Amino acid sequence: MCGIVGYIGNREAFPILVKGLKRLEYRGYDSAGVALISEGNNLNVYKTKGKVADLEAYCADKDITGSVGIAHTRWATHGEPSSVNAHPHYSESKNLAIIHNGIIENYADLKKKLQENGVVFRSDTDTEVLVQLVEYIQNKKEVDLLTAVQVALHQVIGAYAVALLDKNNPRQIIAARKQSPLVVGIGENEFFLGSDASPIVEYTDKVVYLEDGNIAVMAPGEELKVVDVFNEKQNAEVKKVNLNLGQIEKGGYPHFMLKEIFEQPECLKTCMLGRINSEGSHVTLSAVLDYRKQLISAKRIIIVACGTSWHAGLIGKQMIENLCRIPVEVEYASEFRYRNPVVGTGDVVIAISQSGETADTLAAVKLAKEKGAFIYGICNAVGSSIPRATDTGSYIHVGPEIGVASTKAFTGQVTVLTMLALALGNVMGTVSHDDYISIVKGLQAIPDKIREVLKLNERIADLSRTFTYARNFLYLGRGFSYPVALEGALKLKEISYIHAEGYPAAEMKHGPIALIDSDMPVVVIATHNDLYEKVLSNIQEIKARKGRVIALVSKGDDTISKLADEVIELPDTLECLEPLIATIPLQLMAYHVAVCKGKDVDQPRNLAKSVTVE
Ligand code: F6R
Repeated sequence: MCGIVGYIGNREAFPILVKGLKRLEYRGYDSAGVALISEGNNLNVYKTKGKVADLEAYCADKDITGSVGIAHTRWATHGEPSSVNAHPHYSESKNLAIIHNGIIENYADLKKKLQENGVVFRSDTDTEVLVQLVEYIQNKKEVDLLTAVQVALHQVIGAYAVALLDKNNPRQIIAARKQSPLVVGIGENEFFLGSDASPIVEYTDKVVYLEDGNIAVMAPGEELKVVDVFNEKQNAEVKKVNLNLGQIEKGGYPHFMLKEIFEQPECLKTCMLGRINSEGSHVTLSAVLDYRKQLISAKRIIIVACGTSWHAGLIGKQMIENLCRIPVEVEYASEFRYRNPVVGTGDVVIAISQSGETADTLAAVKLAKEKGAFIYGICNAVGSSIPRATDTGSYIHVGPEIGVASTKAFTGQVTVLTMLALALGNVMGTVSHDDYISIVKGLQAIPDKIREVLKLNERIADLSRTFTYARNFLYLGRGFSYPVALEGALKLKEISYIHAEGYPAAEMKHGPIALIDSDMPVVVIATHNDLYEKVLSNIQEIKARKGRVIALVSKGDDTISKLADEVIELPDTLECLEPLIATIPLQLMAYHVAVCKGKDVDQPRNLAKSVTVE
């Protein structure tokens, strides 16, 4: 999704802005641009379709001087990806420039009115409407930029994070947010702006997360001013951001995705840190301690999420139902929010989101809260919108996830859901002491077991090369492995663009079996658990139809190795913890297939890291 960077101070703005845009590349985008107030007080806008590197090349012979600027990476919503539609957008007089994340829903109405008043537009975007409206108000009412922005935002329906420059007031940036995140970094006589903290952390650890409806005025030498559209002063709490540069760079790996796959053992250790004691005998989640009453009295739990986070939710459902005996429903947030759901007092809604900004999940949270449910968030991005909208929650603490395909966030979410089920089951008395201890100990051992699986990387890379011919893949699993099959298929399709479907293994004979022939690779999670024999029969059915089987098996399995074309051996663990191990080879396989096919692994086409539009 679009990215925003801003700088105002005494340094050259251009290098800071370009570096910031590169840090935001993970969000996915199709064009990039920058606006600078030059030394001679000109307002220069440079923008181009393509990557940030293309923008740099485009600017090579341009005037890029100036210590005030805003920059943007655009992911097209209104109007095709093009240099004209890229941000920043000038106002008609070229005195103002704007960058914008989000969607102005009533842009067509506003545009029509402005055109009737003679305003001429250059692009197809909703964003240009906003900057033209601000200028129109400035001229008509003879007011300063802040007042014009306040009046304009009053008329706007939609979601936005915006930043504006005014040539006639060159030592100021104005930024505003509603439903789209925006962070202000505070330095010595300088301010930074970002759609998240990653472009800022290199310069300062002091940040203000703007709240919905906040408008920030940044002017060097003055305090950060935060007001609303009525010019009422708003609270701007300065927070310390705990993010270091090493966490957001590739650290020697060719792609962020591979780095993030390999980080999982350490990330999960951090996720459990302070929550599981060193003896492995107890799980403490502060949210469960603080909101014990609301949680143990839950009539049912509804998990809302999208994509990979939804798959984590499916595992969480089994875990919570097993250990807490509370019925759990798992809903796509996008469906839940639009179908007048039966939800209210006595329900606990768990919202799972890596970014904490997914528009549908955030809307589902708000809806459930309005209806009286108690909301628990499981998120990664600290200070993002979803954790701020919930009653309580647990961060997964796996560090920033930059690759668009979610990897370490998934295992972090499953780990937190497991700890939640354990902690809650323990206070409710629904889990036996023996089960409790063996799952806690099992969870504690997972990072080392993932390390063992990661040693298979070379072998999985070799194996993946032999499957790049495939146009379709099937992934099968049962019980706890069914969501793993869904996740494996999603990973493959999103980065290699090979069509892949995940199914509960027993469903194969109700349709998908018709697809199986010698060109169809089938990945089967067939570890030694209660349903082993049944999955074994599925493998026989596939082989009888000449399908090619890649089986994930428990160490030492010599039955399936005789049947399957390829076998990946996994270390033993409890069945309920298998997703944390079985997902790793599937992540690696998707990664290597995509690399072999020459795809852009970290920024797959059409996808965005943070889906802040519905
Ligand atoms: C898949 C992927 C997406 C996200 C989904 C939800 O690899 O990354 O399916 O899981 O867009 O995003 P969050 O978790 O940020 O709410």
